[in-house]
Amino acid sequence: MLNTANTNTLLNQPLELPCGAVLKNRLLKSAMSDSLGNGRGDPTDAQIRLYERWAQGGVALSIIGEVQVDPRFPEKPGNLVLDQNSNLKAMRSLAVRASIAGTHIWPQLGHAGALAYPAISQATGPSTLKIGDFQCAGMSKIEIEQLPDTYAEAAVMAQKIGFTGVQLHAGHGFLLSQFLSPLFNRRTDRYGGSIENRSRIIIEVIAKIRCAVGPNFPIAIKINSTDQLEGGLTQADALKVIKRLNSTSVDLIELSGGTYFPGAKSSSDSAAGGPYFIDFAKLARGVTNIPLVVTGGYKSRVEAIHSLSNDAVDMIGIARAMVLNPSLANDWIQGTSDPKFPQFKSPPTGGITAWYTMLISALGQDAENAFDIDLPSAIRLYEARDEERCHQWRTKFSHRPLDVVKK
Ligand SMILES: Cc1cc2nc3c(=O)[nH]c(=O)nc-3n(C[C@H](O)[C@H](O)[C@H](O)COP(=O)(O)O)c2cc1C
Repeated sequence: MLNTANTNTLLNQPLELPCGAVLKNRLLKSAMSDSLGNGRGDPTDAQIRLYERWAQGGVALSIIGEVQVDPRFPEKPGNLVLDQNSNLKAMRSLAVRASIAGTHIWPQLGHAGALAYPAISQATGPSTLKIGDFQCAGMSKIEIEQLPDTYAEAAVMAQKIGFTGVQLHAGHGFLLSQFLSPLFNRRTDRYGGSIENRSRIIIEVIAKIRCAVGPNFPIAIKINSTDQLEGGLTQADALKVIKRLNSTSVDLIELSGGTYFPGAKSSSDSAAGGPYFIDFAKLARGVTNIPLVVTGGYKSRVEAIHSLSNDAVDMIGIARAMVLNPSLANDWIQGTSDPKFPQFKSPPTGGITAWYTMLISALGQDAENAFDIDLPSAIRLYEARDEERCHQWRTKFSHRPLDVVKK
């Protein structure tokens, strides 16, 4: 429970998680797929420097976006991969430098499923689908039953490397989120139908990870409050999942929303308004005792303090504002400086996210002061870099059968 006696110190209070780990303050750098992997699933110097800067900037917990548990289904060719072939030296260097000043550094365990990057994957989700131009294959029951082991192996690898926890990505339309969504999940077995069945794989994954990493290692989950997509996960069902998570060993639930399904809304691409999901967080608070983080649309210190002081959430998750100012946590704790958000005129879908991704690259090279590109250039650079990396990804991963990749 937060000490609300002095709202100015709210941001700087430690938070003890159910597993016993302590986060030093209430600010979390939310997962952002930085596209700074080397195309072979390993970290680059720029990526290591990026996370070092966020740690120096005072954040309590920094989450590395989209670290893949199965290289056959990445979100992007710049993702990291946690498997037996990971470059342990580079991964360790990332874990060490990203955790200076007592910062927790957790990979977000990702599997893009039906939204896997087409040039280097064969998209496969809970069910075979064809919706307009979008199509994917469906997973067999055996493939689903392998998922808990796949996630647990990646979590154990994360722990061995020196990352201080893991987050499961169950939001934004990627695999675990697809299981929750009636739009993607049309199964008639124990993994489809009711929300109890649609959330089953998540519960199984958490149980397997906990068994593998022991009682003291933090496990978090990022989940949608709603998919904001017709036919997708509703708020009522999201609340049922959160209630169910209450009887698992999860340590932290991050609330988000939206999906990257073609034509849908995503919160990283929204420009106006915010905070987006605080009303949902208040409802979630009523159904779980697990610490909650809400992410999306925070632009000012006052908004963050307000959400913490009405006791709806335990932490505030921030993505884009931490790109505009990697020292935002220290600045807000000291009471200064909201970042100045850029204004984009009629941005195309994905444009804002691409622009922030390129600014993230500049941060990794300590070159943000020279960063001055418009949205179309950002999109061009972003797409060209991904295309280049596809070749490296294919060279390392594509020809390898599943048992080689996973063992
Ligand atoms: C460049 C970029 C990449 C992102 N990649 C991820 C990701 O890998 N995983 C994830 O859960 N969310 C990702 N997000 C979403 C953010 O974590 C966050 O939920 C969203 O941007 C809303 O928060 P904000 O308003 O503070 O930016 C990304 C956002 C941005 C801007």
